[in-house]
Amino acid sequence: MNTQLLSPIPQPDLPLTLLGGLTPRQFLQDYWQKKPLYIPAAVPGFADLASFEQLVKFAGRDDVISRLVTHEGDDWCLEHGPIAKKRFTQLPATNWAMLIQNLNHLIPEANQLLQQFNFIPYARLDDLMISWAPEGGGVGPHFDSYDVFLLQGSGEKRWQIGSECDRSLIPDIPLRILSNFTHEHEWVLKPGDMLYLPPHCAHFGTQLSPGTTYSIGFRTPSHQELASQFLMYMAERMSIDGMYADPDLPVQQAPGEVGQDMVEKCQKILKQVQWNDALVGQFLTSYLSEPKQHVWFEEPAKLLSYDAFIKKLTKQTLVLDEKSICLFHGGGASLNGEEIPEEIACLPAIQTLANRRGLDAGEYDELLTDWLYEIYQAGWVYFG
Ligand code: SIN
Ligand code: CO
Repeated sequence: MNTQLLSPIPQPDLPLTLLGGLTPRQFLQDYWQKKPLYIPAAVPGFADLASFEQLVKFAGRDDVISRLVTHEGDDWCLEHGPIAKKRFTQLPATNWAMLIQNLNHLIPEANQLLQQFNFIPYARLDDLMISWAPEGGGVGPHFDSYDVFLLQGSGEKRWQIGSECDRSLIPDIPLRILSNFTHEHEWVLKPGDMLYLPPHCAHFGTQLSPGTTYSIGFRTPSHQELASQFLMYMAERMSIDGMYADPDLPVQQAPGEVGQDMVEKCQKILKQVQWNDALVGQFLTSYLSEPKQHVWFEEPAKLLSYDAFIKKLTKQTLVLDEKSICLFHGGGASLNGEEIPEEIACLPAIQTLANRRGLDAGEYDELLTDWLYEIYQAGWVYFG
């Protein structure tokens, strides 16, 4: 088995250097969504995964989400990518930061780093963002609505963590910067040091020497988003028989009024819209595995024939593309927002594909192999 190509299996009770010697279970119980954790040498010997020049190239691409934050005192400016290479030659020596989202889609090593955090389920894991900043650079004092691990790449960064603070923001600027930030804790992170912050914890990072921060971010859909997306999902799937009927219609003296009788009849009809755990689970696999808007997949440069594909499958690991997301619940599963046909979704190989982000070389049944060939053609998986 080529274990390197497959994502690690989370071990709930194994102490992790990444968590400062805590086990995932202890971390989740005591810190996750509760309080910050400073972890010196979380990734010993950690070296940058991308050079400044590579990041500038990424910032220039229109399929990459990038931002540039500059500031002079309290005057904060935000530019959205794509950012031309020339723009970086016009910047001052200090006080700016370049941010590149989804580095895990761009560099396999960044995806491997993100996979180290899979003690948090993929349905919650979002992306790996990198920031590069010279001395004085940062994005200002702010809070995020999601959990984040901030791993220092190169250089040193001072992180100040706010107390339960005044949430007011500097008005009329394109960034959400806290106007009255005061801090309770301060740490200077060196390469490989990490800080975990729960949602809504005010923080202010300032790069002390040129370098990078890797932000492992999580997804926290709002209740409103979940409910509206679920209703849209339901709308496509439900089927309710019958036509409105009112053989008992009374004469209304106010014909403009929607009568109480009609409201009650419709209430009864609408109560037929029902759901259960299985449906909510299936909705979540589909919705949470949808690719982000800027993501697209490319078919393999040299497409194998079906026969050559089957042959290779017996010899080589098939891995999910870095941009692919596969989730399952019960007997259902989705890949990149598309529900996997029931007779395939229930196969144990689908759970491996979702958990380990790949499949060992082997002979698989015909139905599964046909489907694997389809997703291989779509560029959703490739041979590792
Ligand atoms: C940074 O990398 O400086 C910003 C990360 C964050 O504050 O979430
Ligand atoms: Co933040």
